[in-house]
Amino acid sequence: MSKKIIIFFGPPGSGKGTQAEMLAKKTDWKKISTGDLFRAEIANGTKLGKSVGKYLQAGKLVPDKLTLSLVEESLKQKTSGFIFDGFPRNKRQLNDLLAVFRKRLKKNDLAYALEVAVGDKEVKQRLSQRRSCACGAVYHLIYNPPINEGVCDICGGKLFTRNDDKPKVIAHRLKLYYNESKSILDYWQKQGRLIKIAGEQPIKKIHEEIMEKLKKLKLV
Ligand code: AP5
Repeated sequence: MSKKIIIFFGPPGSGKGTQAEMLAKKTDWKKISTGDLFRAEIANGTKLGKSVGKYLQAGKLVPDKLTLSLVEESLKQKTSGFIFDGFPRNKRQLNDLLAVFRKRLKKNDLAYALEVAVGDKEVKQRLSQRRSCACGAVYHLIYNPPINEGVCDICGGKLFTRNDDKPKVIAHRLKLYYNESKSILDYWQKQGRLIKIAGEQPIKKIHEEIMEKLKKLKLV
């Protein structure tokens, strides 16, 4: 059977993490979220966590070398598919990932990028109402609230607002996204491997659109 790779793409707060998680639950594919991996390293107080904390806090990209080593480690997992969330984020990371694919993927394995398109106004609204849990669960106070205020439905942990969800840091993250994303999207477009999803719909509807498009391409 061929291996499937779906690379979620979209501005910060577009909902790509939410959708990547929903897709991972529907499939047996492994999700690689670089943001989640970095946050776990920070929470566990590892050496890597200590060196990347300042980048996340400021909404800056972690140096490519550190990011790639984390991704390469995750790619060793045995699975019929991978879901990327938040990687690659610039041309260098794309080229590194393509080099890894050339080494590891077989001829009939399939890699597609999936762009969740959302405008800045909606992104800012979503991030200002986001609440996260250390277990990786993500809520929105209006559109996807936890059952009990401030408490994670899944693990009972205390919900918090991410440090990089402050307006000034959001503006910086958005700027970075627009500076870096075009060349990556252009690459997948030219390959005929870009799936575009309208991101300003309810969470469930977006998931349905994703599943429909993946089915059409015989990816699920
Ligand atoms: P990362 O965690 O990847 O952050 P991001 O890309 O900025 O994306 P977010 O996690 O903020 O948003 P999302 O699109 O996943 O949205 P979500 O589903 O949560 O990276 C964080 C940092 O790590 C970076 O700034 C950088 O420092 C570092 N980093 C990570 N990857 C790196 C890399 N490759 N290279 C270098 N550095 C890297 O949804 C947002 C909110 O909206 C939630 O509240 C959710 O409930 C809600 N929501 C979702 N969908 C909908 C909907 N359809 N309608 C209404 N609300 C919705």
